[in-house]
Amino acid sequence: MKTAPLPAMAVSSSRSLPEVQRRVSAVHHSTDPEEQLRFYDTWAPEYEQDVTVLCYQAPQLAASCLASVFQESIADVLVLDVACGTGLVAQELQAKGFRRFHGLDGSQGMLEHARRKGLYQELKQCMLGQEALPASSGVYDAVLIVGALSEGQVPISVIPEVLRVTKPGGFLCLTTRDNQSNLRYKSQMQQLLDDLEQRGLWEKVKVQEVEQWERATSQQEAKGGSDYISGVIYLYRKTSRISC
Ligand SMILES: C[S@@+](CC[C@H](N)C(=O)[O-])C[C@H]1O[C@@H](n2cnc3c(N)ncnc32)[C@H](O)[C@@H]1O
Repeated sequence: MKTAPLPAMAVSSSRSLPEVQRRVSAVHHSTDPEEQLRFYDTWAPEYEQDVTVLCYQAPQLAASCLASVFQESIADVLVLDVACGTGLVAQELQAKGFRRFHGLDGSQGMLEHARRKGLYQELKQCMLGQEALPASSGVYDAVLIVGALSEGQVPISVIPEVLRVTKPGGFLCLTTRDNQSNLRYKSQMQQLLDDLEQRGLWEKVKVQEVEQWERATSQQEAKGGSDYISGVIYLYRKTSRISC
């Protein structure tokens, strides 16, 4: 399924596109997780303005994708927002009627901004992919990882962990990008998603490809002369009979 872009989030920015491209490029190319998180700590105050310049729409798109499978009792759905950043995903989900949010992120600076939104009942710091998630098994009705599954950010080893904390019958919404420096990561992620499906641990509900996911940080990252990179949203449902 291909999707047209949504309007950018309504936050004004003082930074120019080339300035934001340089800044985001730096975060995408860092390989040291500690350095990454220090970067996010310092980026936190300007993160939302900067991603607006890049026409970053993943939070709206993922929220719409997840909301499409919850018709009733949406206010009771317990959501875990993994790599929650400043809380854009909860903000979008709240606009759709979701009310119960827990969030995890490695950056205290990002978590502090998420806390100020007043949407999350619980926020915890966690080094994703390096330690178990601080949550019991089979607790959440829905788990999302938006904008963070990519090269140099959250390792794919977090995916079995998010499956563990999801309730049997619960939903998982994951996003990744199609930019050139993320192709290897995306292919490894795809293999893991397929493997978990073949093992009967979850079933694919929807794969949504989005051509204009966000503005590219450089010409090399985009395909065919476009100013945008594409991205993808995966929606899975944890198998009911299994509690892993
Ligand atoms: C691009 S932001 C996405 C934030 C939010 N989900 C959104 O869509 O706006 C990526 C987030 O992942 C977090 N992050 C990146 N690598 C991480 C890691 N290894 N462990 C924990 N958090 C990490 C960063 O701190 C940052 O808040």
